Amino acid sequence: MYSLARSLLFRLDPETAHGVALRGLDLAHRAGLAARLAGGARVADPLTLMGLRFPNRVGLAAGLDKNADHLDALGALGFGFVEVGTVTPRPQDGNPKPRMFRLPEAGAIINRMGFNNAGVDHLVARVKASRYQGVIGINIGKNLTTPVEKAVDDYLICLRKVHAHADYITVNISSPNTPGLRNLQFGEHLDALLGHLREESTQLDQRDGRRVPLTVKIAPDMSTAEVGLVAASLTRSEIDAVIATNTTVAREAVAGLAHGDEQGGLSGRPVFEASNRVIRELRQQLPDMPIIGVGGIDSGAAASAKVAAGADLVQLYSGFIYHGPALVGECARALREAGQA
Ligand SMILES: Cc1cc2nc3c(=O)[nH]c(=O)nc-3n(C[C@H](O)[C@H](O)[C@H](O)COP(=O)(O)O)c2cc1C
Repeated sequence: MYSLARSLLFRLDPETAHGVALRGLDLAHRAGLAARLAGGARVADPLTLMGLRFPNRVGLAAGLDKNADHLDALGALGFGFVEVGTVTPRPQDGNPKPRMFRLPEAGAIINRMGFNNAGVDHLVARVKASRYQGVIGINIGKNLTTPVEKAVDDYLICLRKVHAHADYITVNISSPNTPGLRNLQFGEHLDALLGHLREESTQLDQRDGRRVPLTVKIAPDMSTAEVGLVAASLTRSEIDAVIATNTTVAREAVAGLAHGDEQGGLSGRPVFEASNRVIRELRQQLPDMPIIGVGGIDSGAAASAKVAAGADLVQLYSGFIYHGPALVGECARALREAGQA
């Protein structure tokens, strides 16, 4: 069924197709058909991590539902968890269009959306209005116009607003589409940012009598030494988990392809190996820290390879666009079988 929908959707420009697909999914959900789209009931493979009970190991990655406008429908597709955002304190338009490009020969996408979103208050209202009962991560970022030196203020605003509504909160410091953001991954910037967020989050946990884990999402474009420095900083700040990885700025894998030289972050199959390398290095440095592996998963075998590299949970984005909801169950079944082997 998805291959027919896909051939129609792929005739539209990618961002239009994205909106049409999500509106269609909402309709299917209201008609009680969403689970059927995903090929039946959610795969049961429960796991407790960060104090949260995940019904299976396959999540939806951030960026597909930036405003939590489609949470109920996406939550009905068999995911073990859904991450919404990236959200910023104030609404912002993002970069001029076109800003999303398909590279079908490579199973890839390049995007330079630039955190287009309706702002944190909208997202919180949508989460509150939703009926979704599963695990929800809320991914937070900074507004374009906030100087990088003041980034912590934006993350703190978002943290305070989403804390009561999230099962976990992701600090996104790895989008390539907000100038300077990735600098927050390094040196004293990272310790300062994470230190402030840890402190505030612990206070909120105490106020609410409920611990909300903090995760940090990092880029694949890091040397081994840089991964080591990030790992040390995550430990110092008592971060609960790391999400590896965001999109890459590398372009070797798509050189010569149509749209291969577009600015932005490259995702899908070309980022698979790069993200696996970062996961392996993180796992060496952080034997006990939960790792959420994301980047280029387009089959059950690819999901299993992420877990073999060291991930505890995985997330999908580009593979979901190319293969549709059936990929969720395929990956969840593969991971359940790998876990039983
Ligand atoms: C169009 C698009 C928008 C994205 N937006 C976000 C975002 O807002 N926040 C974020 O943390 N990651 C974002 N991502 C990155 C994905 O969550 C994921 O980390 C990355 O695409 C690698 O996974 P994949 O190869 O399965 O797509 C975006 C990816 C795409 C393709």
